[in-house]
Amino acid sequence: MTQTQRILVTGATGTVGRQVVAELLDRGHQVRALTRDAANAAFPAGVEVVQGDLTEPDGLAPALKGITGLHLITFGGAAFSPLETGPRILELARAAGVRRVTVLHGGGPTPLEDAVRTGDGVDWTVLMPVEFMANALEWADGIVTSGEVREPFVDRLSAMVHEGDIGAVAAVSLTEEGHGGQEYVITGPEVLTIGDKVKTIASAVGREIALVELTEEQALAQWRTAGLPEDVIGFLLEAYGNTPEVGRTVSGTVEKVTGRPARTFAQWAAEHTDAFTERS
Ligand SMILES: NC(=O)c1ccc[n+]([C@@H]2O[C@H](COP(=O)([O-])OP(=O)(O)OC[C@H]3O[C@@H](n4cnc5c(N)ncnc54)[C@H](OP(=O)(O)O)[C@@H]3O)[C@@H](O)[C@H]2O)c1
Repeated sequence: MTQTQRILVTGATGTVGRQVVAELLDRGHQVRALTRDAANAAFPAGVEVVQGDLTEPDGLAPALKGITGLHLITFGGAAFSPLETGPRILELARAAGVRRVTVLHGGGPTPLEDAVRTGDGVDWTVLMPVEFMANALEWADGIVTSGEVREPFVDRLSAMVHEGDIGAVAAVSLTEEGHGGQEYVITGPEVLTIGDKVKTIASAVGREIALVELTEEQALAQWRTAGLPEDVIGFLLEAYGNTPEVGRTVSGTVEKVTGRPARTFAQWAAEHTDAFTERS
């Protein structure tokens, strides 16, 4: 049984941050959640909400006061632009007596992650999840409106991870000994193709879903119509067309760190049937 600790979660309204908050609460810890829009953010009961912007680190001092652990994102503002303020945030965290930091890796080096890795009196853990299961929510409109998923590279393999498991690894790393200096590749328990995932969602919602394979050109057009920036499109083409080994290999981190098996895509789909079901 670990002692109750107070943790500041940044990115707390996001896909991963919400899960970090939930997993910390589940373990009986006190959670302070940072958002740029405290008036409109919704959190579970008991969460202390604080207003703050990571691009303006000197305003974060009150949010950092009295916490033992800090969960960080590496970006701020539009299009996931890397935070240039990382070194200052870490300086303030150390001054406030923060003992443990987790950082959600953003796919490449950033000033914030570099500052975290220098350690200097703080136990840091870098969380390196592969593809989130939540990315499948992008299919919700197509499934609801036309009963189809339109994707390129349908045979690509992914060890996609349940967001709750990223949250669980973060919660343990932030509150227990033994995770300092670790880089955790976080995956799900199985490797699936797009076809496997579509079948899993179809079975969860109890309807047929067609998988339409797009050519690379059709995918580019679809992403541009959806308004994705060109650098994101370039990233997707590379990640989907040429998935690195790490993205299609089960790591076992979730079970090693949390003591519980990683959640399956079938579990995720069963939890999200509403998103894939027509509302009357
Ligand atoms: N999708 C994937 O498959 C995948 C896989 C591996 C890694 N990743 C990485 O995961 C990260 C995205 O995480 P996510 O999906 O959880 O994010 P998300 O759902 O897009 O949420 C973004 C969060 O960032 C916060 N935020 C943005 N700018 C901020 C600022 N200037 N100050 C304070 N808070 C700020 C927002 O808070 P407020 O709006 O409430 O202020 C919000 O909570 C990226 O680094 C990405 O590279 C993604």
